[in-house]
Amino acid sequence: MTALDLSSPVAVVGTGTMGQGIAQVALVAGHPVRLYDAVPGRAGQAAAAIGARLDRLVEKDRLTAADRDAARARLRPADDLAELADCALVVEAVLERLDVKQDLFKAVEGVVADDCLLATNTSSLSVTAIGGALRNPGRLVGLHFFNPAPLLPLVEVVSGFATDVTSATRAYETARAWGKTPVACADTPGFIVNRIARPFYAEAFAVLESQAADPATIDAVLRESGGFRMGAFELTDLIGQDVNESVTHSVWQSFFQDVRFTPSLAQRRLVESGRLGRKSGHGWYDYGDGAERPEPHTAEKERPPAYVVVEGDLGPAAELTALIREAGITVREEEEDHGTRLVLPGGGQLVLADGQTSGEFRDVVYFDLALDYRRATRVALSASQDTAPRTLAEAIGLFQALGKDVSVIGDVPGMIVARTVARVVDLAHDAVAKGAATEEDVDTAMRLGVNYPLGPFEWSRRLGRSWAYDLLDDLHLRDPSGRYAPSLALYRHAYAGEKREGAS
Ligand SMILES: NC(=O)c1ccc[n+]([C@@H]2O[C@H](COP(=O)([O-])OP(=O)(O)OC[C@H]3O[C@@H](n4cnc5c(N)ncnc54)[C@H](O)[C@@H]3O)[C@@H](O)[C@H]2O)c1
Repeated sequence: MTALDLSSPVAVVGTGTMGQGIAQVALVAGHPVRLYDAVPGRAGQAAAAIGARLDRLVEKDRLTAADRDAARARLRPADDLAELADCALVVEAVLERLDVKQDLFKAVEGVVADDCLLATNTSSLSVTAIGGALRNPGRLVGLHFFNPAPLLPLVEVVSGFATDVTSATRAYETARAWGKTPVACADTPGFIVNRIARPFYAEAFAVLESQAADPATIDAVLRESGGFRMGAFELTDLIGQDVNESVTHSVWQSFFQDVRFTPSLAQRRLVESGRLGRKSGHGWYDYGDGAERPEPHTAEKERPPAYVVVEGDLGPAAELTALIREAGITVREEEEDHGTRLVLPGGGQLVLADGQTSGEFRDVVYFDLALDYRRATRVALSASQDTAPRTLAEAIGLFQALGKDVSVIGDVPGMIVARTVARVVDLAHDAVAKGAATEEDVDTAMRLGVNYPLGPFEWSRRLGRSWAYDLLDDLHLRDPSGRYAPSLALYRHAYAGEKREGAS
């Protein structure tokens, strides 16, 4: 099965933000493109807007003037659906409402030929439900582009329950021929990206709700320690709090209110207050004239400890041993059977975030996970009220000596980056085990769709087989709501083959 022939006309129905972007992609790839919108005149406006964008591509030397002229000649607004009769593919990007999409496809089905491929750009509805209204649901596929479609490479190609393999393959190959990076996925809520990315937002909001840190600090830790391009608060301000919340809500509802996807009360109140993010001038942050972005909490300078004792294998934080030595601090390494930790001169311990809290131990400071401790410019620490001041000061001084800013946050289990990554890894394993997509496609989707520095499976391999499971298992003990309950898939991944024969 091959991609659509470039001479085949492609129709885009619904010519708003996404429709225009998708039409531009098909047009620049070489297809004749028809535009249709329910609002009279809007398809014509969309054609003009696409033409103007092609002009800008010519100005930037990304398109020749001749190619632009040829593309413009291939673009045609339609006044009536009947004008789409000879199209080989109809991509729908109308209002995100099931009845509207079903009615539209029923009407399209009455106009186009039997072999015309139908595609929906829905981001949260079930492709299966949309297809349920069709005479031939086998030819309907999800083609989920990301905004802005001409720039972002990822396209999720979604197979509904009734989608024919040939339709999905043709859509996949066509997206690839258009210069996109398609990933194949099943019709599950949120598809790949919008499902697996939920904890990135949810855990940041949960840390805020637990009063452990403010948005600026959480964002700085996610960026400067976690390696994420943006923090969850600034990113949702960019996306729009209403849009982000409605995706969360839809995924949660579609999974029958699975507690792992529960929306955030803090975000609900923000939306209710009308603070929708950049577009309304105020979200988690204020974007008004003269408003200043709050600074993350950063600890005052402390003296570095003279030495540290590294007990056991630091696992994902192993690089720290070399970094501490390079900073001129003496490191003594000792074998240890009971966990891994750094022991400070005052006797206090520094432990990589797991699912426990500092307050459960005598004199323990936790430090958060970093994507790469050498490159990280900030590290978060958490201590309890009972932690000896000297231990916290030595921990702060140690990371400062490595050139890191230090943010001290409240005593939350799993801290910020560690709990976020563990939950993303868990949802990724769960999604693959349930047939939503392959590991490779999940990694591609999360890197290209939401710019994660690593795909969840690659991250999981780096962290070690049982790291995410153990963290979530501990978190689940402390919050037995089910939100942190690790999936069976993650358990299998972590402990496959570890039980003795015959043991129960
Ligand atoms: N905006 C995004 O970031 C984004 C990303 C991925 C997917 N999507 C999905 O793409 C679709 C469109 O989103 P958008 O942001 O472009 O919306 P939009 O509001 O910018 O555009 C929707 C267009 O559809 C037209 N329309 C509505 N009902 C119609 C009908 N029955 N027939 C023909 N035209 C009709 C409207 O007049 C409007 O021009 C939605 O399903 C949305 O979930 C959006």
